[in-house]
Amino acid sequence: MSFSIRVNGEDHDSAPRAGQCLRTYLREQGWFGVKKGCDAGDCGACTVQVDGDPVHSCLYPALRAEGRSVTTVEGLAEDGELHPMQQRFLDAQGFQCGFCTAGFLMTTSAEAFDEEKRADLPRALKGNLCRCTGYRAIEDAVRGVRHTERPCAGQAVGRSLGAPAGPQVVTGTARYTFDVDVEGLLHMKLLRSPHPHARIVSIDTSAALRVPGVVAVFTHHDAPDRLYSSARHEHPTEGPDDTRVLDDVVRFVGQRVAAVVAESEGAAEEGCRRIAVAHEELPYVLDPEEAMAPGAPVIHPKGPESRIARPENNVCGEAHGELGDVDQGWREADVVYEETFRTQRVQHASLETHGCVAYFEPSEPGEPGEPGEQRDGSRGTAGSEGAAGERIVVRSSTQVPFLTRRALCDLYGLPMEKVRVVAGRVGGGFGGKQEMLTEDIVVLAAMRLHRPVKLEFTRAEQFYGATTRHPFTITVKLGAKRDGTLTALQFRVVANTGAYGNHGPAVMFHSIGESMGVYRAPHKKVDAYSVYTNAVPAGAFRGYGLGQVTFAVESAMDELARRLGIDPLVLRERNIIGPGEHMEGPLGEEEDLHIASYGLDQCLGVVRNALADDTSAELAPEGWLVGQGFAMAAIACGPPGGHIADATVKLLEDGTYDIAVGTAEFGNGTTTVHKQITAGALGTTVDRIGIRQSDTDVVRHDTGAFGSAGTVVAGKAVMKAANALAEQILTFTAEYARTPRSLLRLTADAVECDGRVVTLKEIHEAARGRGVELRADGHFGGSPRSVAFNSQWFRIAVDPGTGEIRILRSVHGADAGKVMNPLQCRGQVEGGVAQALGATLFERVLLDERGEVTTAAFRRYRLPAYADVPRTEVHFSETSDAIGPLGAKSMSESPFNPVPPAFANALRDATGIRFTEAPFLRDHVWQALEERRRAGRGVGRGVSLDE
Ligand code: FES
Ligand code: FES
Repeated sequence: MSFSIRVNGEDHDSAPRAGQCLRTYLREQGWFGVKKGCDAGDCGACTVQVDGDPVHSCLYPALRAEGRSVTTVEGLAEDGELHPMQQRFLDAQGFQCGFCTAGFLMTTSAEAFDEEKRADLPRALKGNLCRCTGYRAIEDAVRGVRHTERPCAGQAVGRSLGAPAGPQVVTGTARYTFDVDVEGLLHMKLLRSPHPHARIVSIDTSAALRVPGVVAVFTHHDAPDRLYSSARHEHPTEGPDDTRVLDDVVRFVGQRVAAVVAESEGAAEEGCRRIAVAHEELPYVLDPEEAMAPGAPVIHPKGPESRIARPENNVCGEAHGELGDVDQGWREADVVYEETFRTQRVQHASLETHGCVAYFEPSEPGEPGEPGEQRDGSRGTAGSEGAAGERIVVRSSTQVPFLTRRALCDLYGLPMEKVRVVAGRVGGGFGGKQEMLTEDIVVLAAMRLHRPVKLEFTRAEQFYGATTRHPFTITVKLGAKRDGTLTALQFRVVANTGAYGNHGPAVMFHSIGESMGVYRAPHKKVDAYSVYTNAVPAGAFRGYGLGQVTFAVESAMDELARRLGIDPLVLRERNIIGPGEHMEGPLGEEEDLHIASYGLDQCLGVVRNALADDTSAELAPEGWLVGQGFAMAAIACGPPGGHIADATVKLLEDGTYDIAVGTAEFGNGTTTVHKQITAGALGTTVDRIGIRQSDTDVVRHDTGAFGSAGTVVAGKAVMKAANALAEQILTFTAEYARTPRSLLRLTADAVECDGRVVTLKEIHEAARGRGVELRADGHFGGSPRSVAFNSQWFRIAVDPGTGEIRILRSVHGADAGKVMNPLQCRGQVEGGVAQALGATLFERVLLDERGEVTTAAFRRYRLPAYADVPRTEVHFSETSDAIGPLGAKSMSESPFNPVPPAFANALRDATGIRFTEAPFLRDHVWQALEERRRAGRGVGRGVSLDE
């Protein structure tokens, strides 16, 4: 069949397969700038232009493009000049992970994107989703607002410098996990369980193996007979060992049953359809309270070696403690308030799904291979690490390359030097990729077959085969004296960890830490449970449990203030911990946690100022109910128990610098911050610094990019290395140039020696001549830790006739210590607020009565679109931290946490109704209003508590 298509000015004549979409066709031709976020027309990441018109290439048949001219993001720039829209995205930094950026660029650079469209961006951009930015940076890009500053030599911290990878992101040349061409690649597809709880009696794979192209089928008979946790922590024992690569018992609908490896995805899918599995169905339980009750089906009947708190009651982990005597606290109180709050399952929805590619490369040090260099040879045996002189490379969409390598080595008994884990650019994580969900099975197959193997989750698999935010039920009880002084604080927390305990106990512990510790009260008590059910497993998610409990406690504080007749701001100010105080909880103090800078008062001041000069109520449509509310939150800068980072900075032959750091970049901006820190220490410009990261080859160890550690932990290791290198260079140059050390000064590319200039190139050459390598290491173990603070305020309007809610104004206070890069930090806040608004207003992973996910697509699981997210005013506190590098604190997880309760408090103010269950769906709001009306009770601000 003859076929011709012109792509970015190049003719292609290879014919597409029958039914092939344009997206996969273009990627197979090497145009990796075309991304896949859903393959269903919902996200826009695959947008290209066909004869100048933007189309979702995943829905566009490749055959239809016959004879047409297709432009992908790689073809936007002309004659080496960026398209004006590409330049605008760079100037405004209209991206974070950048996985959506090509789609936005192809939409907004089309001729049809005219003035009319620019005037109505909510409608014009409705076909493109972004999970990271909160859209305001994208709006600024489209409108041509410049935010980036130009780099100059010396102190770069505090400046809004653009991300080093920006040019690659906007030209589609940044390489994400699957943007590699691997020769001889095999494709894996997973057969998943249709049952919530069942024992596999038999599996017949013979028909699957007869499918042309199928190379192998793996079942539990092939998997190592050992248990582990898919959660990745510095200390692997933090999570229970309850998971097998492939198990003979399935515990949720969607659990892996078998893996088919084939020459094509289609053949692997067909192979999955041909596997015959006989199950013995077992009783199942979906509700965590029922799961803890006597007689409930036991989901993990395992021994103490699995570290499950009470397997017989499905209690994965639990915590109980009391400080003082809460009963006395209730007796001392004039007002006691108690309520139960519930949060839902939410998906991370990073635009790049989970997945990895494993291949082989020569293992001799200094010979890192490129994908495609693997040798096709004889098949290895089970447990083989490949042929002699080779090692396995896993290129993964992960936040934790080093911890993944360690887990793979443990699982398959491999020496560390035989495994390399690399992350390309990661298309969003939000905690979901602090997990080993694909690497284990892919490595099993690659080692057995001695062929490169790829597994890429579909968007649907992301919903039922990855993890979710933990749904929580939280009962809060508060007691206070008439003047607002808290007398007692009590929580009962039940977190549903789903079928596996990955992150379960750790999320539960974190949820009751800072949320209790931020308030002073003489009596505190907690009972917390992380509970197994036969549902899709939960995992790490931005805030790590704290957001769920903050929703409850901040809603309860608002209600307590109403009952006391006290301004909720005053109630907070009367009870929050102050500078230098310790965060005391019923489980004791975390000894390495210190308030090393205090900006909570300033965060509350942001709310007070917003209220003082606010006229946004005037924006409400006539007849709508208007209300305002706020909430605050505290979060530790880094996880407890240590978070390790190693960094190396060295001077290169050409007089530039190289940073090696283990942490991964997934849009959180750590690459930029690490360069800024280094530039400041060495008196140079960021563009004279290269960085290697996210690769187990580049440094000794790094715990990973989670727990808000990229700036404060990895950044501190980088700072130590850069400072040490500056010292080395100056010491060496003093001797070399025979000039007193005190008269030397580092500049961008040289050392000024009392009037004479010695270039860094010359210094490198001289040092090498004397056998000296100018390089320094830095290490930080993540302890001690400081505390960051946030506040959020909303004014909203509610249509009493429909339940529709509009946000009239959104204001956020953030205490990030010294703000390393205001542009990026603001982006983290805007993105966090947007993600939290999704969870507040409409996002929810729904399960049917057997636990099957019924919202496994973006069109059934609503993600915030451009039109849903208001512009949030972001105000940073003026603080400088005594622990964080150069005074910085972390600000990646925390902006999420105060948003749901602030919204709930505004909704309470507007309607007179306390909503205790997220999300606050429009029809739920309408229904609650209607019930009150039917009961003859009033709605709105003036409603008294007992009305
Ligand atoms: S990948 Fe095409 S719209 Fe999502
Ligand atoms: S920057 Fe838009 S999805 Fe990450």
